[in-house]
Amino acid sequence: GPVYAVVPAAGVGERMKAGIPKQYLTLAGKTLAEHTLGRLLSFSPIDSVIVSVSSQDPWWPTLPVASHRRVSTVAGGKTRAESVRNGVAQALMDGGEEAWVLVHDMARPLVRLSDIQALMEQCDEQGAILALPVVDTIKQSGEDLHIDSTVDRERIWRALTPQLFPAARLYEALSADLDGVTDEASAIERQGGRPRLVAGQSDNIKITVPEDLPLARFYLARQFE
Ligand code: CTP
Ligand code: MG
Repeated sequence: GPVYAVVPAAGVGERMKAGIPKQYLTLAGKTLAEHTLGRLLSFSPIDSVIVSVSSQDPWWPTLPVASHRRVSTVAGGKTRAESVRNGVAQALMDGGEEAWVLVHDMARPLVRLSDIQALMEQCDEQGAILALPVVDTIKQSGEDLHIDSTVDRERIWRALTPQLFPAARLYEALSADLDGVTDEASAIERQGGRPRLVAGQSDNIKITVPEDLPLARFYLARQFE
């Protein structure tokens, strides 16, 4: 079926402390939003891109990419999960029961096409997500902050985006209680699904705090070496 990219972009970027939502900050002469959408639009298996935008957002309409013929918007929600649900609902309406959705944070401008390719190739009916194996030794603590145990690192992963699912399956999962749902896979897991993990690249960072911007500048330059 058709593949829709769903891009939540209705956050305010509180931790970035920039005065404007972080997706409109500039990296190497382009906004983060344009970096992210440019990459998704240049990946040919993606038929169209649905962006969740806040109704109070005066910046979005000023971007050239906002009028791209394969880009449309839906209303953002109070939480990321609600913003994603609105986008997935639109994908289902446009693409029908056979549609797939590739959910990707607007705040991850450095995603590589080779990673999106790997995600699509390794995905099965259960869906799949990009993830990174943790590199630190992981401790489980009690409430008293003393260590109870060391967790086997081999099986601990950090979830990234994109995350790829059949639209109907994800919509159903996101129609349940969203309390504590911080990514699409966690909603699917609650329904008993077991999405596939696909190892991604560590430069696919989520721009979150001020120091992430110089880091992104470094990674971006390195991607074009
Ligand atoms: N997002 C969204 N709707 C929300 C909250 C977040 O679409 N109600 C989006 C953000 O725009 C971002 C992605 O989800 O692209 C990841 O969220 P995060 O990194 O937390 O961004 P913000 O919520 O904007 O940042 P903060 O939590 O620091 O305020
Ligand atoms: Mg947030």
